[in-house]
Amino acid sequence: MSIESRSAVGEELDGELASLLEVERFEAPAKFREHALLSDPGVYDHAAADPVGWWEAQAQELEWFQKWTTVLDDSDPPFYKWFTGGTLNVSYNCLDRHVIAGRGDRVAFHWRGEEGEERDLTYAELLSEVERFASALKELGVSAGDVVGIYLPMIPEVVVAMLACARIGAPHNVVFGGFSAEAVRERMEFSEAKVLITVDGAARKGKTAAVKDRVDEVMGDLASLERIVVVKSKGTACQMQEGRDVYYEDILAAADPVCPAEPLDAEHPLYILYTSGSTAKPKGILHTTGGYLTGVAATHRYVFDLKPDSDVYWCAADVGWVTGHSYIVYGPLCNGATSVMWEGAPDYPSKDIWWEIVERYGVTILYCAPTAIRACIKWGAQWPNKHDLSSLRLLGSVGEPINPKAWLWYHKVIGAERCPIVDTWWQTETGAIMISPLPGITATKPGSATQPFPGVFAEVRDESTGEPIEEGQGLLVLTHPWPSMLRTLYKEEERFIETYFKRFGTETYLVGDAARRDRDGYIWVIGRIDDVVNVSGHRLSTAEVESAIVAHTDVAEAAVIGQHDEDSGQAIVAFVTLQGELQGDDSTVEGIRETVAERIGKFARPKRIIWTEDLPKTRSGKIMRRLLRDIADGRALGDVTTLRDPAVMQQLEAQVKELSAREE
Ligand code: PRX
Repeated sequence: MSIESRSAVGEELDGELASLLEVERFEAPAKFREHALLSDPGVYDHAAADPVGWWEAQAQELEWFQKWTTVLDDSDPPFYKWFTGGTLNVSYNCLDRHVIAGRGDRVAFHWRGEEGEERDLTYAELLSEVERFASALKELGVSAGDVVGIYLPMIPEVVVAMLACARIGAPHNVVFGGFSAEAVRERMEFSEAKVLITVDGAARKGKTAAVKDRVDEVMGDLASLERIVVVKSKGTACQMQEGRDVYYEDILAAADPVCPAEPLDAEHPLYILYTSGSTAKPKGILHTTGGYLTGVAATHRYVFDLKPDSDVYWCAADVGWVTGHSYIVYGPLCNGATSVMWEGAPDYPSKDIWWEIVERYGVTILYCAPTAIRACIKWGAQWPNKHDLSSLRLLGSVGEPINPKAWLWYHKVIGAERCPIVDTWWQTETGAIMISPLPGITATKPGSATQPFPGVFAEVRDESTGEPIEEGQGLLVLTHPWPSMLRTLYKEEERFIETYFKRFGTETYLVGDAARRDRDGYIWVIGRIDDVVNVSGHRLSTAEVESAIVAHTDVAEAAVIGQHDEDSGQAIVAFVTLQGELQGDDSTVEGIRETVAERIGKFARPKRIIWTEDLPKTRSGKIMRRLLRDIADGRALGDVTTLRDPAVMQQLEAQVKELSAREE
């Protein structure tokens, strides 16, 4: 079967395609392999024989103020420490050293605004702004260890803010711009942030959304928060509270232009990033300095085969997620890359904006999420075909499993069959890519993230026996510590152990994903085993969405599940019981969706709401989500005998049928 005829096959054949492709491999073109940074498969054995030595060699690539005395301190698992005794500074590694080495004129970011505005920032310019802003933060009373919140859109100042924090050792806590102000407040409260850096307004598809005013509505009484810094981005008028609020531009102009990078302990906290877990309370993933930078720099270099002198790299994620932290900011800057930074959405001002950007800046490496690729498939190949994409030489995918059809379209339409695809599996917790092809070595299979990165050890374990599975499906685990691993959950040490290191002991990290190993040892990540859903690559907990839904005054109870969705990977479906005799109608649906948007963000709004008089519960009162998933997917119901009231299911089935008929 040719690639052409395969890519014409419909989505419904993905399963069949997957098994067909499981045996077929795609080799990188000989020319690519010839010039690849890593082309000898021996690197895997070399790293496996001495993983600590391998990671030590990667750390040598960084600039240290003082070298470590111990590479890995594993005396108290799962609290691993890397490069103990060493001191360094992340912002120094990302900026100063390139400028000192004469690379100050190199463009760090080609920034492109929604309306076509352009701003090129060189390494020297970025350093100068970071030094000033770091001085300004110190003036505001921020010192090493103080948490600084960042709630900014995709503008260059977000990078400046992160690096300025890193420069003075103030851990940042970035919140994705798509989260609501209430979600920001919660994250500031949990982390006891001292300062919040935000913006007057943010661009979104031709409109400007007020940001600072929304922040003010919810942030007023937060005890820890002493200062709010506001970037004048869109010129939106906003209220400034005397004594608390200052404009970024004003404090920058007044700041000392010199602010040397602070030598920080390798284990000094670099950032906290909140992500969703099984409960409604988000988890504060804590990353530290030396190990994290080692991990992101090494993976960025080798997975993307980065040639900093000639490549133009574009990670089309948002800085507010871990992908943005590791592969827009820290990895690329540490490696001296020239990157593209795009402010907006993939379909504004038109559906070819991504491809216009690729052509305009001569992008050579593109890294994005399968959900974006699926949207492009839907819009049609005519959009990318309008542009010259011949600069591209490598494509990446991240955030969710990439279905074979999307993989093949990416390969053919975007990559013109010449660009290897790296399907990178990792998580907020892992800090850096863990499972991925090495493009000059690994033959790829569409839909498989293939092999652990050198120095990383992954296994698939049998769910009941806990034994490693050679071929088949089970729980994905990582069996050795790695430098960029999370160190703990901020202020929740017990939860850290419980979530990741209880099931298989303190030396085996439980990932939370199911995966399959095929006969060649390739890993196929299937999806979450916990109550986490992945909507368009956005990670959400069902409990978090449920708690937002029940905040609506009419709602008595809610259960949320993730349902397979052709566009977004998974979609949120909510089963809702209303108070008393209330009957749900379209305005209740809108009201509930609005409540979720306010509490979490628009991206968390349920796609479908199904009314129910009761939820399927066991006699002990536990909601049986498995049955809800079966119902939503139209599958035959499994065993219902353990239900308190089996009649609930018939009523629900009737509801779902009615709703499906209406949707058609
Ligand atoms: O389920 C896996 C899925 O995304 C989860 C991690 O989400 P988050 O912490 O938000 O980080 C996303 C960006 C790294 C994982 O547990 N996931 C991520 N990458 C892949 C993936 N699933 C399949 N294939 C991938 N390449």
